[in-house]
Amino acid sequence: MTKGYFITFEGIDGSGKTTQLELAEKFLKEKGYDVVTTREPGALEIGEKIRNILLNYNGVVSDKCEMFLFLADRAQHVETFIKPALESGKIVLCDRYTDSTIAYQGYARGQDIELLMKLNNIAIRGLLPDLTLLYDIPTEISQQRIGKEKDRMESSGIIFHEKVHQGYLTIQKENPARIKKIDGTKSIDEVFEETKKIILQLIQEKRGV
Ligand code: ADP
Ligand code: TYD
Repeated sequence: MTKGYFITFEGIDGSGKTTQLELAEKFLKEKGYDVVTTREPGALEIGEKIRNILLNYNGVVSDKCEMFLFLADRAQHVETFIKPALESGKIVLCDRYTDSTIAYQGYARGQDIELLMKLNNIAIRGLLPDLTLLYDIPTEISQQRIGKEKDRMESSGIIFHEKVHQGYLTIQKENPARIKKIDGTKSIDEVFEETKKIILQLIQEKRGV
């Protein structure tokens, strides 16, 4: 049993996750909570090296290699950072987690979803988020927000990103208790009002247990 709360932030590139995660961190810290933020891929030293390959390598990266690298990063991240932080009672806010692998490597790259779920489970050893916030924006807006400077994943094209988008919506429908969808097209402040409401609800529920 973990004592802290584990909240993940998901969505297509440019959906506003990182902006909302940072606002949530500030808000929760001001309320006196012990909060840490982290991200995937690339939270730790090994992760930073894996991230560099995943996002910046110029040559061919096979789909299976990509899949295993994201999972390898996650296994290390859970074991050496997320789990200890939760056990010491912290609120962990994580930019991307297991749902990214299902949406990107599964729905968009076409890897077997059942297999990915099993591999995800091996990597996380049961450590699912208490809450996942999914920021939903149309792919066209995402492309405008990303701009011209694209990394390897962002350069995968509009069709790829549309598959990621649809994949996320499917994952949300299959996990409505854990994953809450938020309209990411509204202003940053409006989106944060919704983010705050859902996070406070989780804290209240957990307290009630
Ligand atoms: P992500 O982490 O999902 O890739 P970011 O939070 O980094 O997204 O936001 C991507 C870009 O979009 C940034 O320039 C950010 O300032 C902008 N942005 C974030 N949220 C909104 C919003 N609700 N409306 C308009 N622009 C936004
Ligand atoms: P990042 O710069 O962190 O993107 P963003 O700011 O949009 O979150 O890059 C992470 C990229 O890696 C992003 O395109 C999504 C992708 N990704 C996967 O394909 N699978 C995964 O399991 C994870 C964690 C990320």
